[in-house]
Amino acid sequence: MAGAELIGKEEIKEIMDVMETGILMRYGFDKERKGVFKVREFEAAFAGYCQAKYALGVTSGSTALKVALAAMDVGPGDEVIVPAFTFIATYEAVLEVGAIPIAADIDETLNMDPGDIEKRITPYTKAVIPVHMCGAPAHIDRIMAVARKNKLLVLEDNAQASGGSYRGKKLGTFGDMGIFSFDYYKTLTTGEGGMVLTDNKDFYLRADGYHDHGHDHNPNVSRALEGRTILGFNYRMNELQGALGLAQLRKLDTIIAEQKKNKLAIKDVLKKCKGIKFRDIPDADGDTATFLAFNLPDENTAMRFQKSLSGEGVDTVCFKKNLWHYLPNWEHFLARSTANSKKYPFTDPSYKGKVNYDRSTIPRAEDILGRTLVMNIPVKMPTERFAKIKEGIEKAAKNL
Ligand SMILES: Cc1ncc(COP(=O)(O)O)c(C=O)c1O
Repeated sequence: MAGAELIGKEEIKEIMDVMETGILMRYGFDKERKGVFKVREFEAAFAGYCQAKYALGVTSGSTALKVALAAMDVGPGDEVIVPAFTFIATYEAVLEVGAIPIAADIDETLNMDPGDIEKRITPYTKAVIPVHMCGAPAHIDRIMAVARKNKLLVLEDNAQASGGSYRGKKLGTFGDMGIFSFDYYKTLTTGEGGMVLTDNKDFYLRADGYHDHGHDHNPNVSRALEGRTILGFNYRMNELQGALGLAQLRKLDTIIAEQKKNKLAIKDVLKKCKGIKFRDIPDADGDTATFLAFNLPDENTAMRFQKSLSGEGVDTVCFKKNLWHYLPNWEHFLARSTANSKKYPFTDPSYKGKVNYDRSTIPRAEDILGRTLVMNIPVKMPTERFAKIKEGIEKAAKNL
């Protein structure tokens, strides 16, 4: 549960700063808030931590994706390449802006295969969304090279890897824009919340306006008199989320360091088990270690081992079977059941492409995810808990 495991007095202190003013909204009320601007402060601290120019707090990772796509003018008629293994929000966000998601295959990193991108490009492709799944980086340098060569925009979905990096550069800062999720399961949590990151001023200004009904946030006039050039919606982060974010951000490096230590200890036990190989991680230093993924020679062995582990109280996930993170399992998506009876944008007449979401188009995901098991790594792992996990793995491994 990562950041949620460490909620304590630091979060309470930040929250109380807000409660003492009673101003829960990030904008306006300048006199009453007595200098307390938690979302603004969190954005500046997060941008500094990631070494990015601009950060914008929003209500969730899902809305961060939508705001970023809107800022980059991705919309009707466009295709966006997205890995087949991701949380469904990545696909939903593309549909939300009226564009069509195109599935790409994964590689042994469990992330988008850079070698697969060009096969998915059509005259309608506008952007690529690499996702750093399960806390660890994709081959982001190679993905960027393919995207630049083909003049595609890149939005990094870094919902699951806050604080992760690749060769010293923070994930979420490679693409034209990057997004983060701070929902309750995430490495850094604000209960619900998200962040949009970019070095591009135009994209930032469009995102800033879009996430707040178009408001240009001119500091020289009152909120009611602010200008606007585009329509938007309300995806504003509130001050309580900003307060939580500030306290959690200060803990992020500790969370990652503890997870790394615990992951290594569990990995050492698994290493001794017959036939087990570990997920390929392009830069182990940049792993946030929120998850440990390992694979077995074939799906049957993986299923048997998962059952034995479960019998010993050690939980793992096989994402090929997961209902929310693997495209072939989304029956409502495959039926094009968007929240309008016309099935827009799949039926948009301005869209000239053709989609094929069949399993046969993503053979590596089918193979790799079927024989991969993923364990959650705790931040806090007292000796007794580790001893139970170790014993459970050792007992289950006898059946391998
Ligand atoms: C890869 C990915 N993208 C986007 C999201 C959406 O984030 P949120 O839950 O904050 O809306 C998630 C959340 O699990 C995710 O895992």
